[in-house]
Amino acid sequence: MARIAFPEHGTDADELTRQMADRTDGDIDWRNGRTPLYVFKGSESAAAVGKAAFMQFFTENALGGKRAFHSIGSMERDVIDMGLDLFHAPDGADGHMTTGGSESIFMAVKAARDTHRVRGSRVGTQLNMVLPESAHPAFDKAARSMEIEVRRVPLQDSLRADPEQMAAAADRQTMMMIASAPCFPFGVIDPVAAISEVAVGLDIWLHVDACVGGYLIPFAKEAGEDLPAFDFEVPGVRSISADLHKYGFCPKPASTLFFRDAGDMARGAFDLDVWANGRFVTQTIAGTRPGGAVAGAWAVLNHLGRQGYRDIARDLMANARAYRQGIEALQGYHMFAEPDLTILSFGARDLDIFAVADRLAEDGWLPGRTQDPRGMHLMLSMFHAPARDAYLADLARATEAVRRDGGSSTSKAVY
Ligand SMILES: Cc1ncc(COP(=O)(O)O)c(C=O)c1O
Repeated sequence: MARIAFPEHGTDADELTRQMADRTDGDIDWRNGRTPLYVFKGSESAAAVGKAAFMQFFTENALGGKRAFHSIGSMERDVIDMGLDLFHAPDGADGHMTTGGSESIFMAVKAARDTHRVRGSRVGTQLNMVLPESAHPAFDKAARSMEIEVRRVPLQDSLRADPEQMAAAADRQTMMMIASAPCFPFGVIDPVAAISEVAVGLDIWLHVDACVGGYLIPFAKEAGEDLPAFDFEVPGVRSISADLHKYGFCPKPASTLFFRDAGDMARGAFDLDVWANGRFVTQTIAGTRPGGAVAGAWAVLNHLGRQGYRDIARDLMANARAYRQGIEALQGYHMFAEPDLTILSFGARDLDIFAVADRLAEDGWLPGRTQDPRGMHLMLSMFHAPARDAYLADLARATEAVRRDGGSSTSKAVY
């Protein structure tokens, strides 16, 4: 494809708006619930409040939250305090915001690695981390960057992490164990309490990846769902990642990372004092961070409050159950695991489910897929409630067509 040149002259704002709108022609119709990932909705008002707050602090830089933008600094402090309260953090705990789940995970891995080193593992010793097969690739990304070996351990039949196998995979060079709440592929919460026992017994750092469920599980519980403990209530949990820009319904990019011990967080910070401009300290990989994302998170958390999140959690769970019922009513589909929250992951017995997914794609849906096992995947938010009947109708039509015509698909599952 020919490269375009850097424009010589500027273009009028209205014209640019038109051009950008034109470029959305090929996009998935996400506003009407046709993509099962990437975007989240809690309520109209939460989205509007988050957007307005983001725009109000569009120019401010969270890197200057301590020295220049006390507004942003104090709002970030409030967001962290609210999270510490939500996740039963003891005195002495602390946290900070990041630009997303991957960055939260990276900084947690770095803090655990640095802590392991402080305790005596020599530089050059091959460290490793033990994680369930279902854990997010962000752990591998961090591990590759820090030259840490990744030991991915098979799951139990329930598709939850297997504490015994995790224990068997660990040794003296294991600097971290991981549990997901829930894991992305199957939507189930790993047995955090049992993994915590293993981690405490072996004196290994346990990180809970609650990027998806952190701002959903507590409220689903309050709304009456029977879900296990996953946060600092569990004694071995040493750090937790929880994304505001997923089920916190805050503007991107926003995640939170919490440490049981503020000393661990301080150790994970980047701290350099040899530079012309003086000492440079950040808790994140990013230097400049959008002030708007901090303000957006502060505004949405305060706008919804526990009551608002509880109401949304109730609606989300009802919606996910209705999707599940509709899918299972088609006969031939089965959930890979008993879903704990709002992620549904399902396979087919008598047809190639990717052939069905291909037909859904032709109808304008973005079909979420899993490759092992071969299946379809939905991470549902309130975008998907009004789309439910249309989705189920198109799924029924596509299923019938594949049953009638047969066919197999060469499509790949790509995230
Ligand atoms: C369980 C889990 N952890 C971490 C992440 C990474 O989050 P992000 O895309 O914000 O970096 C995701 C993303 O979907 C996830 O599902």
